[in-house]
Amino acid sequence: MKKIGVLTSGGDAPGMNACIRAIVRYGASHGLEVVGIRRGYCGILEEDFVKLGRRAVANIIHRGGTFLETARCEEMKTEEGLRKANEILQRKGIEGLITIGGDGTFRGAVALAEAGDIKVIGIPGTIDNDVYGTDYAIGFDTAINTALDAIDKIRDTAESLQRPFFIEVMGRCRGFIALEVGIAGGAEDILIPEVETKVEQLCLDIRHSFKRGKKSSIVIVAEGDEAGGAFSIAQQVWERLRLEYRICVLGHVQRGGSPTARDRVLSSKLGAAAVDALLDGKAGYMVGELKGEIAFTPLRETWEKSKELDSNLLRLIKILAG
Ligand code: F6P
Repeated sequence: MKKIGVLTSGGDAPGMNACIRAIVRYGASHGLEVVGIRRGYCGILEEDFVKLGRRAVANIIHRGGTFLETARCEEMKTEEGLRKANEILQRKGIEGLITIGGDGTFRGAVALAEAGDIKVIGIPGTIDNDVYGTDYAIGFDTAINTALDAIDKIRDTAESLQRPFFIEVMGRCRGFIALEVGIAGGAEDILIPEVETKVEQLCLDIRHSFKRGKKSSIVIVAEGDEAGGAFSIAQQVWERLRLEYRICVLGHVQRGGSPTARDRVLSSKLGAAAVDALLDGKAGYMVGELKGEIAFTPLRETWEKSKELDSNLLRLIKILAG
């Protein structure tokens, strides 16, 4: 294999730049030419390619977002789009493709590989951390630390005015972000899609926490919780408790910013492992990390199988809220 492509697709995640850097420099050290593809799969169809040498990825390890930019590409969901993309990649001499993103990105990679000869390897990059086959996806650590920083600040004002706060975090339809920031931020409760939300119980918990002398009540609401977002939950609590509350939706702040050391290290390891995989003739896998070791999972399994939440952390939330 002489030439490979790299693209980022779907929602951006801090650490994607560090990962592209690792792919380019590790690839170069193994004699590979690396081509960057702008705006995800759209960039293949638009032939928006950029040759990436070692210097092209200087000074990006600390930058959030993705300098290749990203997109969600509808045309790649059609037979014609897939055929055209394969024809372009072949014409450009690109034999292997590394795609960084979440399950949508991997579905695209599988469809592309099935429609032609391109060898694909996926790298998990999503703040949601909802991809099966890796303990952590690139961007998750940064996102939870960003959210935590905000939660710590909110606690200061919540305590001063003795108010309950409902803080909504991202995570799409999973509760990974909510669970970890709930533990790390000392939340009274977390509301996540994986566990049925019982508003009556939540009200009891909030009332008890104030009765026990707590000065604030931080409730973390995952955006995908089935009882609705923070506004809906807060309203339901208000109707029962008549306690003055405030809401904070952290939103896209969680997706930006300089990646943490942990995300940069993970990005570097996965980028190098993806290049190794292509050089070893592997294709159709996601490279992730399980219990500190590089692990390969067939791309299809990354969305067909469901990643479990840490049940021990779930159990601890209530106990530690004390
Ligand atoms: O998948 C990452 C993510 O940030 C989710 O947490 C969130 O639900 C979604 O993307 C938001 O997407 P958009 O940026 O298109 O609004």
